[in-house]
Amino acid sequence: MAEDKQLSGIRKVVIAGTGSYLPEQILTNHDLAKIVDTTDEWIQTRTGIRERRRAADGEVTSELAAHASRRALEAAGVTPEEVQLIVVATITPDMMFPSTSCIVQDRIGATNAFCFDLEAACSGFQYALDVAQRYIATGDVEIALVIGAEKLSTFLDWNDRATCVLFGDGAGAAVLRPADDGQRGFIGSVMGSDGSLAGLLGIPGGGTALPPSIESLQRGDHFLKMEGREVFKQAVRCMSDAAGRVLEKCGLTIADVKWIIPHQANMRIMTAIAERLDVPIERFYLNVHRYGNMSAASVPVALDEAARDGSLESGDLVLFVVFGGGFTWGATVLEW
Ligand code: ACO
Repeated sequence: MAEDKQLSGIRKVVIAGTGSYLPEQILTNHDLAKIVDTTDEWIQTRTGIRERRRAADGEVTSELAAHASRRALEAAGVTPEEVQLIVVATITPDMMFPSTSCIVQDRIGATNAFCFDLEAACSGFQYALDVAQRYIATGDVEIALVIGAEKLSTFLDWNDRATCVLFGDGAGAAVLRPADDGQRGFIGSVMGSDGSLAGLLGIPGGGTALPPSIESLQRGDHFLKMEGREVFKQAVRCMSDAAGRVLEKCGLTIADVKWIIPHQANMRIMTAIAERLDVPIERFYLNVHRYGNMSAASVPVALDEAARDGSLESGDLVLFVVFGGGFTWGATVLEW
């Protein structure tokens, strides 16, 4: 196995524990059919989604993140005070600033951590993992907490059937630390971005381009907008390419990988990627049918479920592959 050039000769980093949190309220496709002109059959056929979670009013992103974090810390046997770095990947922060990560720090009592948010849309968790693990690999940080948390329901136009059926709320977290045996852990990653396609997926309002105003609220600029067809094509292309590139970089083939944990956007996107990679869809760890697309929370929630249900065993090679607004994309290989 080849080593990522940038990671060779420095400390190996492992995921020591994971946690996730899904809000209680379940919104089924049948529930949505009472709100917009859609059907369970349309949603399932086009996306594979059966239901998603919706956070309660007042249940903010940092709260979802804190629940997931406590579970991850417990799984890793780490106290909040031992955490030195918190990175929260989110496109639905509690507010413009301060960062959601600082609010999470306070909620969980991680008083010794420095904290920042990272925004790479649905790719956010993979980007955040990559940054955090490099801090540990270089010896600057011993223990990092990486979180993907989203309350997308706040930013959905519940009159727009083309978007509101696709997304859900949730949070997942992972605790990173140096590998005890110096063997297992992160092997390599690739990332890419294309800002020329920024207009195809995003929340246009609320920033300096379209500041909040009565007119912007009336136009719905603060809601998520998406050109679904184009996003679909780009997602399949970029995720398949990223998976191929990271495997090549690490001297591996897809046959070496036990589990592919993709960003859970849509079942058809994942089926198309499986075909391109020539790998059975059974090797993809999937939960999109239960939670929809949770943006930066999708990968860490799936990872936590795979860790807890026994799917992941020590020594398994795992491939994360992601795509999101920006556009951003990436892939990471690690030995569990
Ligand atoms: N229920 C019923 N009909 C609907 C719905 C709905 N919920 N949504 C759209 N339609 C209608 C449209 O109005 C359109 O009707 P028309 O032909 O009368 O105009 C028809 O269905 C087809 O619409 P399309 O948008 O062309 O449908 P498409 O087959 O492309 O499927 C979908 C839409 C599911 C959004 C698809 O484009 C897709 O999966 N895109 C990927 C987007 C995605 O997953 N993004 C997530 C964010 S990015 C990421 O996370 C990777």
